[in-house]
Parts: sequence; structure tokens; C-alpha cells
Amino acid sequence: MTWLKLVEGYMPGQMIGELALSILLFALLNWSLKRAGMGIPKFWAGIGVWVFIWLYITYRIYPPIPFSVRAIYGTVTMCGIFMWVSGSEADWQEFKKPIFNVMDGITPRHRFLRTVALILIPLGIGGFAYQSYLPSFDEPIELRTVHPAPPATTKLHGKTFVLQIAENPFRVGSEGKYDQEYTNERSVVQAMGRLVKDVNDPNYNPWDPNAEGYMKYVREGGEVFFQNCHFCHGDNLNGRGLWAYAFNPIPANFTDAGTIAQLQETFVFWRVAKGGPGLPGEAFPWASVMPPWEQHLTTDEIWKVVMFEYWHTGYYPRTWD
Ligand code: HEC
Repeated sequence: MTWLKLVEGYMPGQMIGELALSILLFALLNWSLKRAGMGIPKFWAGIGVWVFIWLYITYRIYPPIPFSVRAIYGTVTMCGIFMWVSGSEADWQEFKKPIFNVMDGITPRHRFLRTVALILIPLGIGGFAYQSYLPSFDEPIELRTVHPAPPATTKLHGKTFVLQIAENPFRVGSEGKYDQEYTNERSVVQAMGRLVKDVNDPNYNPWDPNAEGYMKYVREGGEVFFQNCHFCHGDNLNGRGLWAYAFNPIPANFTDAGTIAQLQETFVFWRVAKGGPGLPGEAFPWASVMPPWEQHLTTDEIWKVVMFEYWHTGYYPRTWD
């Protein structure tokens, strides 16, 4: 039902509009029923409106609202309904009538309801109290540091890298020197999954046969990515690869601002080289299946694939601050 979708950006307005319209329809219905002599009793109308609004905020609103917030909305709705049913003395008397009828037990049916209520309510409260005093044996919560502190240095294929000062040797400007500004400027700008910058310009398109320097290295990083990483991290780098859901934790989603965009390039380099097994103790007890790529890729390939991930997502590595 696409026409019924809540449109992003207009959601609050749409929600208030829909609720107002539903209440208006309800009022209209109630009014015409009343004219026909079959008006809904105030008590049931109040409960009906409340249940309708509760169902609406529970099932209609997306993304889902947490229970604690729904409880607030539910309470506010209840206050509103009370204001409505107590607008005049006559309304209020009408609303209270079914409750008093049951409490006074004026007919056998009411007496029966009263007996049931007098048994069920204390039982319910007793059960609730019992539940909350029961000791619980839940597993302890497992906390895992997703981005643990990296070591000061890391050794790769016999060479030691000091993470504070190491630089990606392929992140170079037109002069062949390390130049993050130059390369940031060339990272992809995506709109609806397409390259927006001039695709015929080898300065911006890594797949252009004349692409040189940084752009050519990005392409080589892309080759490494699509030969090794996309099974898990997804061909759109969003962590939705073919194998992704076999694992817990699931593979990182690089398009999410919480992963590589938050990290220094050398941190990512270290993570790719050492994988799950290279994580320090604080990253456990979750078992990461991220492979230690130093066993399969050269140092250069790792630098290039890291650069490709930044290029493709349009993010820049965090600089030392
Ligand atoms: C077998 C599946 C698998 C493959 C293949 C794989 N990864 Fe991963 N990767 C993971 C999982 C799972 C995580 C999340 C857990 C973790 O942080 O270790 C992860 C995490 C990462 C992270 C850390 C992101 C962060 O925010 O800390 C980087 C970077 C990364 N992968 C890069 C790569 C690269 C580059 C390749 C290819 C050379 C690759 N991965 C191949 C499973 C995989």
C-alpha cells in the first residue's frame, strides 16, 4: 500500500492529519448514530477511541516507537479522553454510569461482573507483585567494544607500522605526495547509487582507462574488495553481503557513519590486517569472523582496499585530532 506510506520528512504532519481525520470520522459516525437513536455509550466510545489511538501509534508509525514513549502518548490520550467525557456534568454522569452500575450490582449480570472483577483485580495485582519479586536468572549482558583502542604499532609482513604516524602510500596528490585534501575531494559523490562527478574525467572516475595515481589505486582497491570482501560486507559496502547473516556480529556496514567514517585510516588498516583474531580482549566475548587479511593480501593491497572503502562510501578518514 504505497499510497498509504508515511512520507519521510512529512511524518509528524501526516500522523496528526490522519489522527485528526479518524477522530473527525468517528465523531461524524457517532453523531449520525445518535440521530438514529443508536448512539455509542460514552464509556465505550472513550475506550474505543483510546484503543484506536494506541493501535495507531503501535502499528502505523514507522520506525516503531519504543514502549516507554507509547506509554506517555497513551497517558496523554487518556487525559484528553477524560477531558472530553467530563466536558459537562451530564456527559460525566453518562460516562460513569456503567462503572457504578457494576459496583452497585443492579442486575444479576452486573452482580456477576462485579464478582468477576473483585476476584480478577486482586489476583492480577498479586501476580504482578509476585513476578516483580521473583529472582531472575537472565544471562549477564555481554558488552563488547566495537572499536577497541588500537595498539601503538603493528607488524605486517616483517615491517613495523607506527599507527600514529603511518600514512597510506597510495593516498597521493598529483605530485605523488601524501595529500588527504586532494583525495577527499575525489571521493565519490553518490546520488541514488550513481557517480555524480564527471564520469568522463579520469580525475574523478577510477574506471576511466586514463585514470592515474590515486584514482588508479582506488580501482585496484576495488578489485581487491570485489575478490575478497563483498561476500560479507556487501557489493554496496553496506554490510549486507551474501554471507552476512550467518554471523554474529554481522559484518561492518561501511556506509554507516559509525564505522570507517569515525576511524583513522591506520586503524582501519590495522583492523583489515589482523581481523577478528587480532582484536584485543575488550572486543570479546563476541566472536568476529573478520579474517586476518595479512595472511592473504600484500601490505599494498590492504592500503588500497582501505582507500577504496573510503572512496566508495564518500567518507574521509578521520585525521589525528
Ligand atoms: C567472512 C566475512 C568477512 C569478510 C570476507 C570480510 N570481513 Fe570485514 N568484517 C567482518 C565482520 C563480521 C566484521 C565486524 C566485526 C569486527 O569488527 O571484527 C568486520 C569488520 C571489518 C572492519 C572494521 C570496521 C569497524 O568499524 O571497525 C573493516 C575495516 C573490515 N571488516 C574490512 C574488510 C575488508 C577490507 C575485507 C576484504 C579484504 C573484509 N573486511 C572481508 C566480516 C568479514
